[in-house]
Amino acid sequence: MAILVTGGTGYIGSHTVVELLKKDYDVVIVDNYCNSKPEVLNRIYQITHKRPRFYEIDCCNEVKMRELFKKENITDIIHFAGLKSVAESVQKPQLYIDNNIGSSKVLLKLMTEFGVHNIVFSSSATVYGVPDHVPKVGGCTNPYGQTKLDIEYLLKDYAKEHKDANIAILRYFNPIGAHESGLIGEDPQGIPNNLMPYITQVAVGKRPFLNVYGNDYKTHDGTGVRDYIHVVDLAMGHLAALKKLEEKPGLVIYNLGTGKGTSVLDLVKAFEKANDLTIPYEIKERRPGDVDENYADASKAYKEMKWKAKLDIVDACRDSWRWQKNNPRGYDKD
Ligand code: NAD
Ligand code: WQD
Repeated sequence: MAILVTGGTGYIGSHTVVELLKKDYDVVIVDNYCNSKPEVLNRIYQITHKRPRFYEIDCCNEVKMRELFKKENITDIIHFAGLKSVAESVQKPQLYIDNNIGSSKVLLKLMTEFGVHNIVFSSSATVYGVPDHVPKVGGCTNPYGQTKLDIEYLLKDYAKEHKDANIAILRYFNPIGAHESGLIGEDPQGIPNNLMPYITQVAVGKRPFLNVYGNDYKTHDGTGVRDYIHVVDLAMGHLAALKKLEEKPGLVIYNLGTGKGTSVLDLVKAFEKANDLTIPYEIKERRPGDVDENYADASKAYKEMKWKAKLDIVDACRDSWRWQKNNPRGYDKD
């Protein structure tokens, strides 16, 4: 009776593993460390005093994954493993197709082979494409987003064919924040693509100022509005989804967000206030592909799973900074 967490040493995976261990789930992690570090496992131990079983395997490697399924009694899967850089996916679409879709296909094949019925999948708000008045799935603006949408379709087909399958597709909005211990957090390699890690790297002196991409959007202050969700709230959403799957609901889809929109400058101000710091910034050109605003209707997740975000952006700003301040070089040791 174990939960297999693919990508469990990554940013969202590690926070979810901590919450699973706190609730005494038996956790097995698989990760190939293509975007994470072994040190994460020590940090998980420091927080929980537990060491989940760990396999360094590429989830696309069907042979090695089958060995894992033979050894472990997997009953549920949380599938975080995937590449997630929008910009890189534009440069290397095939890599994203092979890794993200390939790993999902291997998991589905092994689920059938080993009689595993339950899977929670990390999807993304990016599947909504460019939001109109009514959010519509499709029209993804980049190959990364397209892989998420394609995997959603794979899962839907799988559910049609396998009536005993229970699948939760979770569409995350913008995860930020870190565990309150400051021991685990987001550790981007190279120049961060996302706003919060860029802000924290400015705060720690690694970058001179924040580039604010555009101040002429149709929003209250002209900067882009997003739905920033604390990563621990997001982690709890996965525990809620596992519980939901126990009810054998078939395939369910939920948005995980706060429902609140925050602009780039709102987030900068919140970070400055929460941490008593100044973040220098310069207004730059719009980033191609960015939209004015995007925030979640997460009411279905509350109605059906009784899950809602409890933390706010002030908590996230404080926790992101604690993580960065205590780990200026991320998981790399000095
Ligand atoms: P992350 O890069 O920190 O974690 C992903 C983990 O998966 C990493 O540890 C990486 O080493 C591992 N991995 C990747 N491909 C693998 C493979 N083939 N085999 C084994 N391990 C592999 O990313 P994250 O932010 O924690 O995101 C987790 C998931 O959530 C991803 O699928 C991502 O697309 C999705 N998501 C993330 C965001 C976000 O903004 N962070 C938003 C929406 C959806
Ligand atoms: C947020 C806002 C930027 C960086 C991306 C992916 C999405 C999902 C989450 C995985 C925007 C502005 C940013 C900076 C800035 N990931 N910004 N200066 O673009 O909403 O979503 O991450 O599924 O698929 O596309 O998040 O954090 O990159 O940007 O001004 O240095 O911050 O223009 O308005 P985004 P983000």
